Amino acid sequence: MDARFFLSVIFLLDSLFKQGIADPVEDKRALLDFVNNLPHSRYLNWNESSSVCNNWTGVTCSDDSSRIIAVRLPGVGFQGRIPLNTLSRLSALQILSLRSNGIIGPFPSDLSNLKNLSFLYLQFNNLSGPLPLDFSVWKNLTIINLSNNAFNGSIPYSISNLTQLVALDLSNNSLSGEIPDFHIPNLQQLNLANNRLTGNVPKSLQRFPNSAFLGNNVTTISSPIPLPPAPSPASQPSPRSRNAGKLKESALLGIIVGGCVLGFLAFAFLLVVCCSKRKAENRFSGKSQKGERSADKAVSGSQDGNNRLVFFDGCNYVFDLEDLLRASAEVLGKGTFGTVYKAVLEEATTVVVKRLKEVSVGKREFEQQMEVVGSIRHENVVELRAYYYSKDEKLMVYDYYSQGSVSAMLHGKRGEDRVLLDWDTRLRIAIGAARGIVRIHAENGGKLVHGNIKSSNIFLNTQKFGCVSDLGLTTLMNPVAPPISRAAGYRAPEVTDTRKASQASDIYSFGVLLLELLTGKSPVHAMGGDEVIHLVRWVHSVVREEWTAEVFDVELMRYPNIEEEMVEMLQIAMACVARMPDQRPKMPDVVKMVEDIRQVETGNVPSSGTKSEGSTPPP
Ligand SMILES: *[C@@H]1O[C@H](CO)[C@@H](O)[C@H](O)[C@H]1NC(C)=O
Ligand SMILES: *[C@@H]1O[C@H](CO)[C@@H](O)[C@H](O)[C@H]1NC(C)=O
Ligand SMILES: *[C@@H]1O[C@H](CO)[C@@H](O)[C@H](O)[C@H]1NC(C)=O
Ligand SMILES: *[C@@H]1O[C@H](CO)[C@@H](O)[C@H](O)[C@H]1NC(C)=O
Ligand SMILES: *[C@@H]1O[C@H](CO)[C@@H](O)[C@H](O)[C@H]1NC(C)=O
Ligand SMILES: *[C@@H]1O[C@H](CO)[C@@H](O)[C@H](O)[C@H]1NC(C)=O
Ligand SMILES: *[C@@H]1O[C@H](CO)[C@@H](O)[C@H](O)[C@H]1NC(C)=O
Ligand SMILES: *[C@@H]1O[C@H](CO)[C@@H](O)[C@H](O)[C@H]1NC(C)=O
Ligand SMILES: *[C@@H]1O[C@H](CO)[C@@H](O)[C@H](O)[C@H]1NC(C)=O
Ligand SMILES: *[C@@H]1O[C@H](CO)[C@@H](O)[C@H](O)[C@H]1NC(C)=O
Repeated sequence: MDARFFLSVIFLLDSLFKQGIADPVEDKRALLDFVNNLPHSRYLNWNESSSVCNNWTGVTCSDDSSRIIAVRLPGVGFQGRIPLNTLSRLSALQILSLRSNGIIGPFPSDLSNLKNLSFLYLQFNNLSGPLPLDFSVWKNLTIINLSNNAFNGSIPYSISNLTQLVALDLSNNSLSGEIPDFHIPNLQQLNLANNRLTGNVPKSLQRFPNSAFLGNNVTTISSPIPLPPAPSPASQPSPRSRNAGKLKESALLGIIVGGCVLGFLAFAFLLVVCCSKRKAENRFSGKSQKGERSADKAVSGSQDGNNRLVFFDGCNYVFDLEDLLRASAEVLGKGTFGTVYKAVLEEATTVVVKRLKEVSVGKREFEQQMEVVGSIRHENVVELRAYYYSKDEKLMVYDYYSQGSVSAMLHGKRGEDRVLLDWDTRLRIAIGAARGIVRIHAENGGKLVHGNIKSSNIFLNTQKFGCVSDLGLTTLMNPVAPPISRAAGYRAPEVTDTRKASQASDIYSFGVLLLELLTGKSPVHAMGGDEVIHLVRWVHSVVREEWTAEVFDVELMRYPNIEEEMVEMLQIAMACVARMPDQRPKMPDVVKMVEDIRQVETGNVPSSGTKSEGSTPPP
């Protein structure tokens, strides 16, 4: 099946999804089987007739509601064994938390079906017997907390296959035998205290504090010299960070699945539009009128004459709304403020269309802000080409950057054909982004705030310098709820409401971007709740322990003589992420500092008409 649809069809399917037509039926059944076979003392509102994705406590679905990806049921008062063949059917599960219950029995062996499991919290139960022998079935495991149970036997060596592992807590169990010699460069927290372990603490784990091993009969040979960062074979980014491609796939999958669910209706609709596309030549004849009208309806409901695409000066695109809706399109990603599509028009022009959700202001205010944003012409700011506003639909049109965002470049699948981001390129990204932000902050009488700086909103311009997108939307939108939002990792601590972003909070976000460039790690390593690892906090803790070298991306280790420059950038980043807004440097000073790291050729070229070959504006 061709993954491309017409923009109008995608919009229609999207809207139908939002009405909750899709519910992951089989996953729901699996959860009902689980809860009906495990007694619990607290009430759970898991009603068979309500929507599992919207109404069930502790359950989170994927963005397209096709699968359950998280189950969090701490302290529900479960008593008994986890029934087999229930949770193990949730094959897309990424987070499982059953902590602080009264679960007994062995580790449920069939959880090995959960190949995508990234976070496992079973602490404070009464699970017993050996740990699973083969941990390598969960390649994406990032956090394991099995503390405060009654597990016995030895620690499986297969844990060392978990290259993504960041935290491992097995404390307060009855584990025995020697501690295996793990080599997991990403591991940042380890707790094996209060077991019955014996022997020596292996060399690879001596970087952890003694408290990690207390309450055992083990000898810690202290080595004051920090180990050099072990080069990890094909060190992969955290699961959370690989979203660029993932979102696209899951969104597409959602569309395809949705298509099936909608069955006849959608199929018929598709056929109509496909036919009208094939008959492109005579599309203005009576035959294709029907398709066009449906397309319009999918977008605007009631179209009054005033609603049309508004282009900005200097934009040499020629198409209208109907052309846009007839364009073949694919989903690029879902972002903080809406879904982003790539649309290929008939004249082989490719643009990016961002469909905003939750716009909270009226037409006038929206237009005013678009004029402010659209007037910025700078080589380090992605230009807004056009926008559209009607009661039901708000669209923004940008150039398309085929290389993808900096986030995709940093966290896309490592290895294989991925283009490495070398140090020079990372410096240029930082310099370009900083210049773009300064330009943005100068707009609107020096008051414009970007509000959503993150690596998925930074692209490369033709000179391979960073180029900033997605600015100035925060004040137009309803506040975005913090949980599950990837943006959370970039948000300054004082910003509790997304509408209240400030220039100082932009600087904080820019600091996080610098840390991301330095470490190659995502700003948040989890999906929300109380279980996130913040890049900022992690860097603080590592730097405090004077293991600065361990902070840097292993991919950067191959470039000689850049350590001083990296440390310099680290210092700038740390200044930007200062907790108090007034302690952060001002953006013009930040630019100077970043530019001073090294003189890379600046390639200043007049910005207008810079045809970039990069990627897409923001998911
Ligand atoms: C489930 O919801 C339906 C309708 O919303 C209601 O009639 C029924 O009583 C509920 N069942 C339980 C067990 O709460
Ligand atoms: C389900 O949730 C929606 C919104 O979250 C709410 O309006 C609705 O009343 C809920 N339905 C039930 C049966 O709880
Ligand atoms: C695991 O996650 C990836 C990416 O999110 C997805 O493509 C894949 O289908 C998932 N696997 C299962 C079994 O759901
Ligand atoms: C790990 O996660 C990535 C992206 O989240 C996914 O593509 C991959 O399929 C997962 N690995 C396994 C073994 O499921
Ligand atoms: C845990 O289980 C063991 C038997 O397996 C039992 O003796 C013990 O009392 C249980 N502890 C708690 C806290 O339930
Ligand atoms: C683990 O505990 C069980 C009883 O709970 C016991 O039968 C078994 O021998 C123990 N295994 C080890 C390795 O101590
Ligand atoms: C790690 O995984 C590989 C491939 O899955 C497997 O061959 C190897 O035995 C595993 N290593 C350990 C220590 O389990
Ligand atoms: C594991 O859970 C315990 C209890 O909730 C908590 O104190 C500990 O910090 C957790 N360990 C990790 C590594 O997160
Ligand atoms: C281990 O258990 C002891 C006593 O049961 C408790 O005081 C301590 O907090 C536990 N440790 C952790 C890390 O949960
Ligand atoms: C600790 O281990 C040593 C040998 O490794 C043994 O001689 C000693 O008796 C053990 N101590 C305890 C309290 O088990």
